Amino acid sequence: MRTALVAGNWKMNGDSAFISELIKELKVSTKSSDAEVLVCPPFVYLSEVKQALSGSAIKLGAQNVSQNNNGAFTGEISLPMLNDLDCEYVILGHSERRSLYAETDELVAEKFIATEKAGLKPILCVGETLEERESDQTLEVVGRQLKTVINAAGIEKFVNAVVAYEPVWAIGTGKTATPEQAQDVHAAIRAMVAEYDADTAAKLRVLYGGSVNAGNAAELFANEDVDGGLVGGASLKANDFTAICQAAGAQ
Ligand code: PGA
Repeated sequence: MRTALVAGNWKMNGDSAFISELIKELKVSTKSSDAEVLVCPPFVYLSEVKQALSGSAIKLGAQNVSQNNNGAFTGEISLPMLNDLDCEYVILGHSERRSLYAETDELVAEKFIATEKAGLKPILCVGETLEERESDQTLEVVGRQLKTVINAAGIEKFVNAVVAYEPVWAIGTGKTATPEQAQDVHAAIRAMVAEYDADTAAKLRVLYGGSVNAGNAAELFANEDVDGGLVGGASLKANDFTAICQAAGAQ
């Protein structure tokens, strides 16, 4: 039995006033959620969100992290810093990091290893572009992104990890994968992990991400291998995010 996880990826959005209002609402509205609920604010607001979340079951996560623990890395944020703020999860290898900031599979693997070693839970993002899907390369691309990390880290390091399947063409576009498209890739991801270890594969949570909203969440999460969602735009709206958490908890 896998507990559903709904992670809000706020990306580079929000300010103090907005965030304090959003957290105030979510603390009440997601209180009885059967799904695990996570918010991933921009780094500068982590401390404020941690305070605001006090007394709530909502978890705190970061959107990225450095693979280095300290030193001359201007503008970077380290795992010890995230540990200081009681962050539990870190999103790694989001497609925006891969495409806009040139993060390679190998760098994502380094970050995964460092994150696991620091005791935080990695949310490893994988997903194909539209061009790759149209040329039937989806499983090849997702397989490469996933296996580079498994081969570098070792499958035993996936015990606390989460994988997020996010087709690049569905992120922020309003074009969601159909429940069948999502299920097919999620099942393939689980099968790939099972090639290394069946037990880890059975326990691994695989989230879907890409234009999840209050209207499509239930049918996406109803799939056997979809264990919740990584939500961008809709995570900034308390009502929508709450409905998505409810849909995940109801599965
Ligand atoms: P979206 O973003 O829900 O706005 O499509 C998802 C993500 O990038 O994690």
